[in-house]
Amino acid sequence: MCGIVGYIGFKDVKEIILRGLEKLEYRGYDSAGIAVAYNNNIYICKEKGRIYSLRESIDRSITGYLGIGHTRWATHGEPNKTNSHPHQSSTGRFTLVHNGIIENEEELKNKYLQGVKLNSDTDTEIIVQLIEKFVNEGEPVDLAIRHTMSELKGSYALAIIDKEDMDTLYGAKNKTPLLAGKGDGFNMLSSDAMAMIDYTNLFYEIKDKEFLKVTKDSIEIFTISGEKVTRKPYKADIDTIDTEKGTYPHYMLKEIEEQPFVIRKIISEYTDENGNIKISPDILQDVRSCNKVYIIACGTSYHAGLIGKQFFEKISKKPTEVVIASEFIYNMPLLSEKPMFMFISQSGETADCISVLSKIKDMGYKTLTLTNVKGSTLYREVDHTLLLHAGPEIAVASTKAYTAQIAVLAILASSIDNRVNIDVCKELSIIANVMESLCSDKEKYKSLAEKYLVNSRNCFYIGRSMDYHVCLEASLKLKEISYIQTEGFPAGELKHGTIALIEKNTPVIGIITQEKINLNTRSNIREVEARGAATMIISMKKVSQDTDAIVIDNVNELLSPLVAIIPAQYLAYYAALLKGCDIDKPRNLAKSVTVE
Ligand code: AGP
Repeated sequence: MCGIVGYIGFKDVKEIILRGLEKLEYRGYDSAGIAVAYNNNIYICKEKGRIYSLRESIDRSITGYLGIGHTRWATHGEPNKTNSHPHQSSTGRFTLVHNGIIENEEELKNKYLQGVKLNSDTDTEIIVQLIEKFVNEGEPVDLAIRHTMSELKGSYALAIIDKEDMDTLYGAKNKTPLLAGKGDGFNMLSSDAMAMIDYTNLFYEIKDKEFLKVTKDSIEIFTISGEKVTRKPYKADIDTIDTEKGTYPHYMLKEIEEQPFVIRKIISEYTDENGNIKISPDILQDVRSCNKVYIIACGTSYHAGLIGKQFFEKISKKPTEVVIASEFIYNMPLLSEKPMFMFISQSGETADCISVLSKIKDMGYKTLTLTNVKGSTLYREVDHTLLLHAGPEIAVASTKAYTAQIAVLAILASSIDNRVNIDVCKELSIIANVMESLCSDKEKYKSLAEKYLVNSRNCFYIGRSMDYHVCLEASLKLKEISYIQTEGFPAGELKHGTIALIEKNTPVIGIITQEKINLNTRSNIREVEARGAATMIISMKKVSQDTDAIVIDNVNELLSPLVAIIPAQYLAYYAALLKGCDIDKPRNLAKSVTVE
């Protein structure tokens, strides 16, 4: 998604904005731009492509102490320099960057901007032209901005510069994340704390329909109608070291290898000094008193939710339904009479989840989120939060957040009602050790990726029961970073049609960790082998056979997805590496999908 950064202070703003944009690169973008206020002028530099192109183009002789920057993930208007942000009003007085989507741009264009020459195909330009129009009609700047906000339908996080007032940086927010960073002699705005964390760890959360006036010494927050808002800043516990690659070639590899540590951190965060699980009684009360849990999520988090259903139904005997957020919004299932909603989201900013949340809150139901980002929209808007404690996940392909979500779900399920007497924290510490041993087999994964995947145009992961749910996540990992068309498929379902796709050397990877379906999945593997498939099996030791390519040490079957996914993460990583793909920032993707 797009990202915005703004700074006003005493340092040369160019490097601060560029560095902030680089911290937002992981969100995915196709162009970038910067505006610097200097000597009563506005310098603008925009480039299609990566931020290093922007670095190359920028005029280093320009020095200013007020600036804004933007990484654009095109939604309205193709990715090119003209459509890149910042955008300016007709006279060049106002300059603006925007993250979000304006839904009523045509209506506003026809109503207010007849005869105004627009320079781009973007919805964003409408905003900056409206501000200038209202100022030209006599409104003071802050009123003109709030007036514009009241006309906009859709989502926006804005940073705005007025050439006639270089002591003020303006901001505005609705349905798209925006934070204000509080510094000493400077202040910042950004979509994400990550862009500001090198300079400050004190942030103000900005709520929907709020407007900001920021100077180097003050941050003022107002409602859309102009009432001043009093709010205390919060301290983010992001350690900047977590946001660097260190010696790793890619964030994805770093994050795969952080998983054992994350599991151990989750154990320590969710147990007291006596090793007993500590989850807020309010959360347990709300989950216990519902008669059905609805898990709402997208992508990898949805795949974690499928495992969560197994936990709630097998450990806590709590009926559970897992629904893709974008499906729920337009096709809500028949709800039980006492539902409880759980939103699983690494970023806490996924628009599809946020849309469902606002619908559910209007219906008065209880809500819980499992998220990795403190202060995110979901974190702020739900009744309860269980943090993942996974540390910043930068790579677009989610790995440590997936296993963290599953671990926290297991802890929650066993706290609600432990009908199978599983000692989840003991099992998780065994799992952390098994993860560690799996992480030491990199050469094996690399050679298997080279043998089976690099030259394939498609691939299947097949499994049954929870192994099938792992196959869904394994296939998403492979396809989203190596671009190999991959399907996670129920092994028993192949014969009902999809087996027609199997031809000579089609790679089919079987995942087998569950004893009761071991032989069934193996017979399905033989079926595809008989039709020419190149097969590989990832199995747990207690069900393994000598011919299996990857054997995982035994763990509690219920928690096996936590380890079965590790080899699949590596296979995806090495397939993409060997194919020369952009592993941390795959094409067309964003880390946080903040538009529906
Ligand atoms: C996973 O590898 C993808 N990056 C994507 O499917 C992601 O899981 C999905 O967009 C949900 O994101 P969230 O967990 O931040 O809500």
